[in-house]
Formats: sequence, structure tokens, C-alpha cells
Amino acid sequence: MTAGPVVVEAVNVSKKFKLVHERNHSLKATVLRGRRVVAEDFWALRDVSLDVREGETFGLIGQNGSGKSTMLKVLTRILTPNEGRVRVEGKVSALLELGAGFHPELSGRENVFLNGAILGLPQSELKKRFDAIVDFAGVGDFIDEPVKNYSSGMYVRLGFSVAINVDPDVLFVDEVLAVGDEEFQRKCNDKFSELRNAGKTIVLVTHSMSAVSNLCDRVAWFSKGKLMKMGSPRDTIEAYSATTRIALRLDEFGKARWGSGEGRIVGVFWLSPGGEPISRLDGGRPARLRLHYEIDEPLIRPVFAASIQLEDGTELTSTSTRDVGCVPEKLQGNGHVDLTFDAFPLLPGTYNVTVALTDFSRIHDYDVRKEIVSFAVDPGVLNEMSGIFAMGGKWEVH
Ligand SMILES: Nc1ncnc2c1ncn2[C@@H]1O[C@H](COP(=O)(O)OP(=O)(O)OP(=O)(O)O)[C@@H](O)[C@H]1O
Ligand SMILES: [Mg+2]
Repeated sequence: MTAGPVVVEAVNVSKKFKLVHERNHSLKATVLRGRRVVAEDFWALRDVSLDVREGETFGLIGQNGSGKSTMLKVLTRILTPNEGRVRVEGKVSALLELGAGFHPELSGRENVFLNGAILGLPQSELKKRFDAIVDFAGVGDFIDEPVKNYSSGMYVRLGFSVAINVDPDVLFVDEVLAVGDEEFQRKCNDKFSELRNAGKTIVLVTHSMSAVSNLCDRVAWFSKGKLMKMGSPRDTIEAYSATTRIALRLDEFGKARWGSGEGRIVGVFWLSPGGEPISRLDGGRPARLRLHYEIDEPLIRPVFAASIQLEDGTELTSTSTRDVGCVPEKLQGNGHVDLTFDAFPLLPGTYNVTVALTDFSRIHDYDVRKEIVSFAVDPGVLNEMSGIFAMGGKWEVH
């Protein structure tokens, strides 16, 4: 691929924050010893070195809190590292936090000019590009409203539009693809390709593994402030997804969960043919998803449902026991339900499973556990090379 000069460099960067804890929780302890406030060092980045070459699109991935945004802030000099140094060559533009750099009381128009000026574009040039900026952002007449009245989607679209229209040599972007509707995401992707073809350097943070594999030349994976791996999207995503966990309890991992709680889903596992919990499946092979339940009082005609999402949250498919008429009149106590596949149809990648226990109308939720299990799919016996699911078609040449 590209072998231009290094234009973004971090050398042995560490960044710490002070976390303030109040140590004495009981009244007695407070009375006896007084309030003790303890500040603790927390290392958000630890000895990170990376380099990005001119013209590369470089991705940062990793779980929440792993230090990705902190890294971008250090690279764009919003934060100063405690150790190490950074170097960025050329004109920089950045879209970091939602609405960072926007003044809430000013109108969209005023913010475009203010922001553009901060990013180094002369007013005359901004005037020329103004319509294109507003057009790309799709904020329409809202451009003369104070941005505090904007939806989060509008905010980020306008911010992104300014950031890419100032002709940067290096563009830093944090999670822009997660916000905005499908059409805007498509526009962003087109814009990334355009910048890329123009030889610009892009450093982006994203949770979308499909964005990483489609857009990036190289990827860095962060975990707990450390750089775990830097390499091709394929290798890096594979290493990352191998560590993502299989069966998660909400309590430990803070996954979204809701419902009235008379019946609960207390464990979700993919099982191997031998009945062992597994976190990787083989495409085209048999697979079994097991949901363990606990129900206090008898539930009348309860329904179990499961759905599969891409890592960016896109729903691929869902199925329920009601769809197939597999609904008991009454259910109580502890037990499990199985969802089995003769030939698992997803292509290699990382996916999430969401499960639910609801009443027969599917309106009342007893327990919904969002993206409770993350799992990876290996090629297995599928022939398809790219995409999400196996069509399973047959070719014949006559
Ligand atoms: N200003 C701050 N003060 C204290 N701690 C902070 C500060 N900024 C970040 N942190 C902590 O540093 C760690 C890394 O945060 P960071 O925002 O870089 O993570 P991230 O990888 O971007 O996560 P996410 O995917 O959720 O955006 C987190 O534990 C976070 O709570
Ligand atoms: Mg972040």
C-alpha cells in the first residue's frame, strides 16, 4: 500500500488522570477520622508508540474506556502526555467529541465561520465553501438557529462537514459513524474514500468492525490504555475479537437490561456439539444457543426471543418461540431453552446476541438483555468469501 513518510507519530506516550475517591463511607468513620479525599493516579495510556504514514487510513479500536479518545486528544494536542512525545505533520483537522468547538448560543452559520477560522481557513475561502458545508451537513434552515437547539445528529453532521471541508492533510475523527442516519453514514464513507484517494491521512476511532475492515489500511487495538497490536485490519480484528467474551452477566459488564423481572434470563451460551460453552462458531456447521431462565411465579404463555446484531448495532435477524408456535401454556422454575441451527449461516466476523423473555403479545418485557453475548464466526465449511451471510447458492456452467 502506501509507503509515504511518517506524518503522525507517538513515542512512548503515557497519560494519567487523577481520580478522586472519598474513602470514608460510614458516618462513624467520617466523624472519627474526618473526610479523607484520596486522589489516585489512573493511567489512561501507558507507553504507547505508533506511527501513521502519509495517505494511510488508520483505525483505533478497543473496548469502552481503553484509551482511544485519549490517544486522539493527545495526538491533536488537546491533552498533554505525562510521558513521551507526539508529532503531527501538515494541516490538522479534527472531529473529536460531539460538538466540541461549537458555541451553543451561536447559530450554525456563526459556528461554521468560527470553527473554520480556528481550523485555519480564511474567511473568503469559507464563504466560497459555506453552501457545500451546509449541504453536506443537511441541516437546512436550521443553519440560522442556535446550535443548542440541534439534535445530536445535526450537531455531529455540521461538525464533520466543517472538519472535512477545510482541506486538512491529516484528519482525526472519533466515532462519527456511530451518529447520524444511514444516509449520512454513507456520505461519510464516500467522503473518507474521496479524502483517501486525494492522498490525505485519516486517523479514526470506531467500534464498527465493518468500517475498520472496509476503510482502514492499518489498525491499532487498545486495551486498558495499552497498545495490544498494530497491523492489518484482518489480523488486528481477529486478535481483538478472540479476547471478547462469550457469556456475560449484566452485573459484571454493565450491558443494557430491562424488564419487569418476574422471569429472568440468567445465562446465554453458545454450545459446542459436545455441550461446552464456546465463543467461536464455524460457519456452515451446526450451532446451539442456550438461554437459561429463572421464573418465580408461573408465567402464562411466555415467549423467548433472540436476535443477532453486527458490532455497530445493525440488526441482522430475529426469531422467537412464538414465530414457530413453540409456546408453553405455563412456565415456572429454572430451566433452559435451546435455539439450534443445522448449518450456521453467518460469514466470518464478530456479532452480538440480544435475548428477551416477554409475554405472548410481545409488548410486555419480563427481561431483555441487550447484546449479552459477543461471538466470532470462523469460515468453517462455507464457500462465500465476503459479506455477512451465506446464500448457499449453487453454480452450474453449461
Ligand atoms: N478527563 C478525564 N479524567 C479522568 N479520567 C478520564 C478522563 N478522560 C478519560 N478518562 C478515563 O480514561 C479511560 C480511557 O478513556 P477514553 O475516553 O480514552 O476511552 P475510549 O477508548 O475512547 O472509550 P469509548 O469507547 O467508551 O469512547 C477511561 O477509563 C476514562 O474514564
Ligand atoms: Mg472514546
